[in-house]
Parts: sequence; C-alpha cells; structure tokens
Amino acid sequence: MTSNRESGEVDISAVLHEQRRFEPQAQFAARARLQAAQLAALHERAGKDYLGFWRELALSQLNWHRSFSVTLDDSQAPNYRWFCDGELNVSHECLDVQIIAGRGEKAAIRFEAETGEVRRLSYRQLHADVCRMANALKSLGVQMGDRVVIYLPLVPEAIVAMQACARIGAIHSVVFGGFSALSLRERIADAGACVLITADGGRRGGEIVQLKAAADSALAERCESVRNVIVLRHAGNPVDMHEGRDCWWHELCAHQSPRCEPQWVPAEHPLFLLHTSGSTGRPKGIQHASAGYLLNVKLSCQWVFDLREDDVFWCTADVGWVTGHSYVCYGPLANGATVVIYEGAPTYPDGGRFWKICQDHGVTILYTAPTAIRALMRLGDAIPARYDLSSLRLLGSVGEPINPEAWMWYHRVIGRGRCPIVDTWWQTETGAILISPVPGVTATKPGSCTLPLPGIFADILDERGEPVTGPEIGGYLVITRPWPSLARTIWGDNQRYIDTYWRKFGGRCYLAGDGAYRDAEGYFWIVGRIDDVLNVAGHRLGTMEIESALVAHARVAEAAVVGRPHEIKGEGILAFVVCRGARPGTAEVVTLAEELRGWVAAQLSPIARPDEIRFADALPKTRSGKIMRRLLRAIARGEPLSQDVSTLENPAIVAQLRGDQQPSA
Ligand code: WTA
Repeated sequence: MTSNRESGEVDISAVLHEQRRFEPQAQFAARARLQAAQLAALHERAGKDYLGFWRELALSQLNWHRSFSVTLDDSQAPNYRWFCDGELNVSHECLDVQIIAGRGEKAAIRFEAETGEVRRLSYRQLHADVCRMANALKSLGVQMGDRVVIYLPLVPEAIVAMQACARIGAIHSVVFGGFSALSLRERIADAGACVLITADGGRRGGEIVQLKAAADSALAERCESVRNVIVLRHAGNPVDMHEGRDCWWHELCAHQSPRCEPQWVPAEHPLFLLHTSGSTGRPKGIQHASAGYLLNVKLSCQWVFDLREDDVFWCTADVGWVTGHSYVCYGPLANGATVVIYEGAPTYPDGGRFWKICQDHGVTILYTAPTAIRALMRLGDAIPARYDLSSLRLLGSVGEPINPEAWMWYHRVIGRGRCPIVDTWWQTETGAILISPVPGVTATKPGSCTLPLPGIFADILDERGEPVTGPEIGGYLVITRPWPSLARTIWGDNQRYIDTYWRKFGGRCYLAGDGAYRDAEGYFWIVGRIDDVLNVAGHRLGTMEIESALVAHARVAEAAVVGRPHEIKGEGILAFVVCRGARPGTAEVVTLAEELRGWVAAQLSPIARPDEIRFADALPKTRSGKIMRRLLRAIARGEPLSQDVSTLENPAIVAQLRGDQQPSA
C-alpha cells in the first residue's frame, strides 16, 4: 500500500513521457460523421462568431415550439442564460420527434435485468409509458416547477420517470439507489420534493437492495413536503405501504391515457437537479436548464460517439449520476438511438457479464469508467476472449483519469485494436462532454482527453490567473467562455455557485476544480481534483461529508479523511480518527474500526466506506488550529514527510498516524 503513491506518481510522470500515439484509422475515418475538414470549420466558426455558432446549432438541432431571438443573455453573469425567449420540451424532443421521424418501432431501450431477463421498449412504447406516468403525476397534483425525487434501480422505469417529469415541466432529482436513507432524506429536503418515486427493491450482485425500506426511513423525518410515494414493483420483496401516501406504479398508471401533450417550457426552465459532493459537508444541488443542456448532450453524441442510426449504445452509468442523465436518458434518445441498460453488478454472476451483454445485444459503442476497466482487466484476458466483441466499433471512458495501462488493455483486449477510444472529460456541472477526441479525426494518446470540442474554450491558469506558459506545466483547468449546458446555479444557494465556480478568477472563467496540464501539442491531461473532493471509483465524495458522518458516531471526537491511490478504485479512503475512550493501539479499536467503516457506509453509501481507519491521540494541526491535511495526505501515501512537524504538540502522533504502532493483541 505504501508504494501506491509512488506508482501513482510514476503514472503521472509516465504520462508526461507517454509517447504512444494512435492515429485515426482510415476505415473509421472514412465513415465518420464528423470529418476533419468539418471539425476544423466548426472550430473556426466558433472562434470567429461564438454566438452565431451556438445560435445556428440551436436552431438546426432542436425543435423549437417557439423560436428564440436572444442567444446568450449575460446581463446577470455568471448566471448565464441561453436562448431564453425560446420554448420547447425535452421529452417531446426525445420521443415525439423520433416517432415523427419514423422511429416508432425502433428499440429505444434494451434492458437486461441482473437475473438475465431482457425487455425491449420501442420508441412508441416508451412514449406511451412516459405519457401514462406524466398523467399519473398530474393526477397527484404535480405541477410545472415542482420537484420529484426518483430513487430507483437502473430499470426502464427510471428513464420513464425522468422523461415524464420533463414532459410536464416538473424538475426531477434522481438519487442514486446506492445512497443511504440519510443521504436520500437530505436530498429530498433540499429539493423540497412533493413526490418520491421508488421501487420495492433493486438487484445488485444477487442481493436485493431494499429501496422502499430506505425510502420509508428517509421520510420519517424532515420530509414533510412529500405528499405521495409511487412504488414500482420490481424485485418482488415485501414492503410496507402507507395508506393515503403510497401507491403502486402499476395501479396508478393502469387507467392513465397513453397520450399527454408536452408542457412547453421556456428554454431556461430547470430540467433537473442533481446533487454532487463539494468541499463542504453538504452536497450541492446542481441545477440544469432545458434547451442549452439538451443542445450540448445531443451534439456531443454526434461529435464524440459518432452516433448513427444503426448503433446500439451502451453507457454503463446508473441514472443516479450525471453520465446516466446525459448519455442514457437524454443525449442518445434525442438522437433517436437505441440504448442498452443493465441493472446489475459488472461481475455478476461472473467477470464475463459485461462482455456477454456486448455480445448478446450487439453493442456497437461502449462507454464506461476506468474503475470498471481496471477491475475487469485484473480478471485477465481469457474472459473477454470468450465473447464475440466484433460488433464494437467505438469505446469511451469517463469519470476519472484513465491510466495508460488500462487504456492500452481496453484498446487491445476489448477493442481488439480496431476501435478508437474517446477519453471524455466533463462534470456534473458541465452537463455534457467538453474535452474529448473526435473519433476518426483526433489522434489519441493513452491517458489524455485530448482537445476541447468546438465551441469550448479551455485553458490552464496559474495561481495568479495567468495562463501557464509552456507545455507540461500544471495549473487550474478553466473554461473561459460560458457554454449552453453549463449548470445554471446551485439549488437554493446561488452564492455558493458563484463562490465555488467563479470567484477564484474574478468571474472571468469557470473553475472546474481539476488540475491539468497540456503537452507540446496542446493536448489536455487531467491530473485530478484540486479541492477536498475524492474520486472513488469514478464517484465524487467530499472528504467533509465523510468526516461529518464519522463525527456523528458517539465514539468519535475528531476525524480527518484523505485520499490515497487505489489500484482499482483510482482513489481509496483513509480516515484518521481521534476517539473518545478507546486508546489507539489496543485491540478494542480494531473492532471499533470495523464498526466505523460500516457506520459510514450506512450514513452515506457503501461507496463512501473508508478502506482504512487509523486511530491517533490527536490530529496534526497548525498553530491556528487547522488540520494539516497535506501532512496527512503524505502520510496516507507513505511519502517521506517534507513538512516541519516540530510545531506539533505531540510529535509522537506521527508514528501513530503512519500506522507504525500496531494494536497490541
Ligand atoms: C473527473 C462525471 C479525468 C474530474 C462525468 C471531474 C475525469 C470529475 C474525466 C467530475 C476524464 C471526469 N479524465 N478526469 N475523462 N472525466 N473526470 O461530476 O475530476 O461525477 O472534475 O462527472 O470527474 O465528476 P462528475
């Protein structure tokens, strides 16, 4: 473990010296939707006439119920507004428009349950289901602008629920089914939701995740805004139904009309909220608008995924994350594509599940996360070799920097050397992919997300806000012009939006929160977060959130959480804890460590479970009382300590923090 950071650093410097370069393959390039000359023309146009560029795309890509005259309203910058006097409906765009275009019988969704059951939903069927749910929501009194929280497994009904909200102008807030009751409660309360849509249970790794039970416990406190709970019968496990509040999805929808006129909404009408971790203990509800969001997700499907009529697109993300919003629910459907969704664990019942799904559904584009690639890579080449992966033509990666080794394996073993890899950089806040290769045009280098897409202006600034000069100098990744799918605000806390993303460089540009550098060719290489946010298995977790969960335990007096490199998850969690009563180094704390790991999992989510807990008599602090996080990070990574520790009250705690002091038996 102690050598982890060393290998992490070797990775970064290897990235610096990464010489491998893959030119676009002629065969792919010949058919690509976006040819080199077109891409160059788009870049040129965006550079010369930024607003004209976006205006034309918004007019040609979206079906406006009422067209717009204002492209960008920056009068309230940094709360930018795009196409704001136009009107449309996102669900109309994803469903009705596709049926009108002749895709009524085409599969919109191919669903595979963990049990192996397969369901296919055509665009027509999806449209009818969405309308029934939209009418059902209306029958419960849900109105335009109301918030609906969705806490479901990854089943077609999750997409139905999201699209139904969009259809009536309600704002959805999806909470990942792996989040605990407490996290769910916090999000429901923050959104002030009037309806919760959940299921009896979900399936994961052969077990049933008790979603309804978690929902009941979430609703027990602080969620007075919730009037109704809609429960999908899915896993078949017994659940308690609360008279007058709860109703079954199938009963509620049984008598609803399969038609529902879309509610035309202003372009800036909020489409959804999605809570994500920041540097404080409280997750922030990132708020996205309708038209601008849809424009970027729709376009990026064409530019980055080269999405065409006959593609079968599988983005493995859950709809609880932004990737599942943009590249499962909205982007592909707005392009009339067929998406695959899979409910369960990637290695259930064995390590061949992903590859079997690719084979059985004829997946042509696979979009997944480095953590999954690394986990499957560890199982060896023999497993994927058993499956026919010849339908694949393009591979994508998202969520964290992909290490060159995993990139090469993905390329060689999964893509069989034929498929371009698009390493896509973006965030919950950016709505859509901003930096990525364009397959067939951009030469790729393992570990680099390459270059910004047309209309995106990215830079790397130093502490003073000056662009870094020269290649391979690290700095803050920023986007220097607003773009349509930029998050509009943080729900209920616009000041936090301004402070988090705009304040550092005086409102001039959007601060992504990532460190990055460029190579001599101008390619971007993302190094990782520069704030107190961890990226564990592609999931954002605030160190403060985990610390608050820890100190909520009766035995914990103080806690500090840091990340350290982890072979599969990218980043692992180490918590330093000062506890009440128990002495570090005793057998008692070993049991307590286990208890605390379980406690955090229950308070937040199993994703947040610390890999290790280390106890100490005190935490290292500066004279002003701030926890010395840099020191803790160095200790976590087993690095030699460069800091002066002589000011510590008790220098002996460094040995404890290092874990040198073993518990006595
Ligand atoms: C990281 C996920 C390197 C980054 C879409 C970012 C990446 C955070 C990449 C956002 C990539 C995402 N290369 N790092 N291709 N993609 N990240 O909001 O640190 O869950 O800030 O959105 O993931 O995570 P989020």
